[in-house]
Amino acid sequence: MKRILITGGAGFLGSHLCDRFIKEGYEVIAMDNLITGDMKNIEHLMPLEQFHFYHDDVSKYIHVPGELDYILHFASPASPIDYLKIPIQHSR
Ligand SMILES: NC(=O)c1ccc[n+]([C@@H]2O[C@H](COP(=O)([O-])OP(=O)(O)OC[C@H]3O[C@@H](n4cnc5c(N)ncnc54)[C@H](O)[C@@H]3O)[C@@H](O)[C@H]2O)c1
Repeated sequence: MKRILITGGAGFLGSHLCDRFIKEGYEVIAMDNLITGDMKNIEHLMPLEQFHFYHDDVSKYIHVPGELDYILHFASPASPIDYLKIPIQHSR
């Protein structure tokens, strides 16, 4: 089974990508710090064995065990309302 990491997986685009790759038969790892995302977008995927959620900030050190076939990087606030409030996320 192919494995894919989708950052921003609880966001608008990321959550739809999670749905799509689950349908395609992938093991999907969604990573999100939930700064603008919402668990409601992916709650229907949580019971699935082939879906994993990591509550992590991609601007810090991250670790995903095992090999990955693809990484889709969508972790970034997209809405002008959000990015005017948080133009730069600082690692603490
Ligand atoms: N929505 C669009 O129409 C559109 C069009 C073109 C490009 N994009 C780009 O796609 C990306 C995602 O857009 P979206 O509409 O899904 O935005 P969104 O805000 O709905 O999703 C972004 C997700 O990334 C997460 N996130 C933000 N910073 C993070 C961090 N440091 N670590 C982990 N997770 C983090 C948020 O919590 C959220 O779930 C953005 O880069 C955006 O510019 C979006």
